[in-house]
Amino acid sequence: MKITSKARIAGVIGWPVSHSRSPRLHGFWLDQYDIDGAYVPLPVRPEHLRDAFRALPKLGFAGVNITVPHKEAALAFMDQVENDADRAGAVNTVVISADGRLAGSNSDGFGFLENLRATTRVASLRGGSACVIGAGGAARAVCAALLDAGVGAIRLTNRTTARAQTLADDLGPHIEVVDWVRRRGALCEIGLLVNTTTLGMTGNPPLDLNLEALPSDAVVADIVYTPLETPLLTDARRRGNTVVDGLGMLLHQARPGFRAWFGVEPEVTPALRAAVLAD
Ligand code: ATR
Repeated sequence: MKITSKARIAGVIGWPVSHSRSPRLHGFWLDQYDIDGAYVPLPVRPEHLRDAFRALPKLGFAGVNITVPHKEAALAFMDQVENDADRAGAVNTVVISADGRLAGSNSDGFGFLENLRATTRVASLRGGSACVIGAGGAARAVCAALLDAGVGAIRLTNRTTARAQTLADDLGPHIEVVDWVRRRGALCEIGLLVNTTTLGMTGNPPLDLNLEALPSDAVVADIVYTPLETPLLTDARRRGNTVVDGLGMLLHQARPGFRAWFGVEPEVTPALRAAVLAD
């Protein structure tokens, strides 16, 4: 680790923040590229979020990541909101300019797509169709990124149908809402299935989804990464589908922030993955 009086400083704001893998992830890259800098966990209570954002430029921070539960609330404290954060309704990356202005963006969709491209043979999503499970901030980011990548049709299903409908109304005509009780039928003829809910995460029930109608060449992605292989991915893998775990998305979503704060385009490598997994 190299920290001089000229070190660039970034961090992650959350409450609690101890679960975050970001310090390990960015710390690995700082070492790998021998950068004069630090990336620190910043536990900030919700009632202190405004003060924390005001203080960051004064403390000389280059920027921060935002994690649970602040991603949506952070929007209100930005001087500038990038299009990806606006569409996701949430900020996960903040870049602080020399004059102290906060620019909020959301790299979750970018991370999802980059990981999909890096780990599968999916060369282009143009004209394809997908089914997305869930309607929270992660679903918004994934749907927006898929539409930007040229996916022609998204079937969206969520336990609370009204929330899925709001997302579809916000992101445009290529999203069709499928009632939660009819979700198994949403899988026929799709090329990509994505779980963006917390179902399947350690401590939560698995996603209850019958995969019978899913084409055997469809890719199945989960954004959950604890465990690395969720029950959904186990089911899909046993049927012969290509599966994509959630850890890769976490690694790739970190790239834009690192590049902006520390000036190096970082690489996602097996060594990085192993280091974050070992944490
Ligand atoms: P995030 O912003 O990280 O995506 P979120 O807004 O809490 O998180 O969304 C979590 C998603 O998991 C939602 O789609 C939620 O469904 P609801 O909109 O109906 O709440 C879904 N989810 C969580 N627990 C669930 C459960 N037991 N059954 C079905 N869906 C569930």
